[in-house]
Amino acid sequence: MVAETILTPNDLIAPLFVREGITEAQPISSLPGVVQHTLDSMRAEVKHLIDLGVPAVILFGVPEHKDAEGTGASDPDGIVQVALKDLRDAFGEDVVLIADLCLDEYTDHGHCGLLTPDGSVDNDATIDRYAEVAIAQAEAGVDIVAPSGMMDGQVAAIRDALDEEEFGDVAILAYAAKYASGLYGPFRDAVDVEIAGGGDRKAYQQDFRNAREALEEVRLDVAEGADMLMVKPAVTYLDVIARVRAEHDLPVAAYHVSGEYAMVKAAAANGWIDGDLVALEQLTAVKRAGADLVLTYFAREIAEALA
Ligand code: PBG
Repeated sequence: MVAETILTPNDLIAPLFVREGITEAQPISSLPGVVQHTLDSMRAEVKHLIDLGVPAVILFGVPEHKDAEGTGASDPDGIVQVALKDLRDAFGEDVVLIADLCLDEYTDHGHCGLLTPDGSVDNDATIDRYAEVAIAQAEAGVDIVAPSGMMDGQVAAIRDALDEEEFGDVAILAYAAKYASGLYGPFRDAVDVEIAGGGDRKAYQQDFRNAREALEEVRLDVAEGADMLMVKPAVTYLDVIARVRAEHDLPVAAYHVSGEYAMVKAAAANGWIDGDLVALEQLTAVKRAGADLVLTYFAREIAEALA
């Protein structure tokens, strides 16, 4: 009766991987229970999620071919565009379709942007590419684009491009405070990404020693026209979620990332913790800290448990 925070399926967004050129869903060993989907298996999964009351999914593509420009990200026949159309045809308005908007799944060097000849990420050339990806996703029927590359000016560039092409209704969920985290390892297995030369993303993602700097990043995204704000990862950054919540009235999302999921699964598989209990505890804590929405690989499991 006096519980302050109650997690419901309506708070959850399920991340889904869809892979080009496979005929059967492929398990991801570092994310037990999560798969790389075919279009068919993804459709079945989304149907199940809708029936459980999960309102939204966010799609990540695993293309057959990668190149320096990440061409597949904006190709109208690229895997995420094909998947968006397929889900829109199958489910109409019954599901909110979100697409991660980045290049790293599509580039052969694994960075979130285009590279200069010396191998560093070219911020301004990259945001032009992001605008192209946004248009391709909008033409395929996306409701919300979620730019995750942490390039400066990406939200404004995407907003301008969408408005110019009459996609004013497409919203932007900005990965506004995204940390250069050690917790993305299993995700990189899921999308077959290896950063060239053993590199990292510290030049564009946030330093985990900093919170004020992250708040400044969030303010910039709000000023550029973000419709929803995201903090990522989630449990390690509850303080950042709470501060973003206190300062902004836009919807706040938090991403309980692959490493956070994998740690719970691995400890539970060893019998060291009760995985279902810890998952519910962590996701409820993220909501308690101030998130309205939680992106989580536990979405189906938790929604089933709450049903
Ligand atoms: C970038 C992106 C990443 C994740 C979501 N979008 C990886 C990265 O920044 O390296 C990570 C999500 C997770 O770990 O679950 N496209």
